[in-house]
Amino acid sequence: TIDHAFLQSLPKVELHLHIEGTLEPELMFELAQRNNVALPFDSVDQLRAAYQFNDLQSFLDLYYQGASVLLTEQDFYDLTWAYLERCQQDNVQHVEIFFDPQTHTDRGIAFATVINGIKRALHDAQQQWQISYGIILCFLRHLSEEQALATLAQAEPFKQHIIGIGLDSSEVGHPPQKFARAFAAAKQQGYRLVAHAGEEGPAEYIWEALQQLSVERIDHGVRCVDDEELVALLVNEQIPLTVCPTSNVRLKVFEQMSEHNLKQLLERGLKVTINSDDPAYFGGYMMENYRQVEAALGLSTAQWLQLSRNAIEASFASPERKAELL
Ligand code: ADE
Ligand code: ZN
Repeated sequence: TIDHAFLQSLPKVELHLHIEGTLEPELMFELAQRNNVALPFDSVDQLRAAYQFNDLQSFLDLYYQGASVLLTEQDFYDLTWAYLERCQQDNVQHVEIFFDPQTHTDRGIAFATVINGIKRALHDAQQQWQISYGIILCFLRHLSEEQALATLAQAEPFKQHIIGIGLDSSEVGHPPQKFARAFAAAKQQGYRLVAHAGEEGPAEYIWEALQQLSVERIDHGVRCVDDEELVALLVNEQIPLTVCPTSNVRLKVFEQMSEHNLKQLLERGLKVTINSDDPAYFGGYMMENYRQVEAALGLSTAQWLQLSRNAIEASFASPERKAELL
């Protein structure tokens, strides 16, 4: 049987983590006070009690509202640092974090303020704990492709700090093909590419992300099982899926963890990884995801080792760094 010490000891890599989704209610209130931002909640407890979601959109509404307390470079530093402390506790040794610049630039926050705060915290954690990292800029898919292209232009001066481009926010009704030109431009500029697909949206969106956006990894992707031909492709090409178990349960992609298809995906030979997505909202950082998966699905030692290895291999870390992590 799998014990806590074994799960703790596994070298972990997080590939699907929205930094804005690590904003704990306590820090949200602290920053609201520091910045004189009004929150429509009276207390931390009342805010936490509101974290009852029916679907992706009901979560996103609170997530964007929460981000309104982030104003200064120090705010983004504090946010990122708090997340990295959790990484250190959970033996997460490499992180590739998403940020949503449009959520902030549309409120008048400078792109530089956001990325400089995030980057400085990542740098400090690398110095202190040897946690390596990459930063992935996500386009908000409920906004237009023109806005995505404008964001890509804003990122240009910070290009050396950004490893890749992703696509997140409301999935259904915003198919990957809407961003075909923006992703082509990003590829041209040398970015690595990923996209959320097949979380709530259909398997067809996974095809589109692969064929029209040329992404290297699929974020979520759990709905691939609806399409046998797609599963065969994902297995043959060993295209990584960054699966987020607690997120999927909290957003009702699966009714409960025992119904999650992660074990089935692994057994079918898909390159699955475990990630926490928006841990402050879904109640679990990396180890909590490991624990809940083990409690509900009961994986073998070999499957846990495979999950750990998959994440290292699926990362955008250098070959030298991957060799250290393996
Ligand atoms: N933004 C933050 N978390 C997300 C998720 N799980 N899906 C889509 N967009 C997101
Ligand atoms: Zn996500």
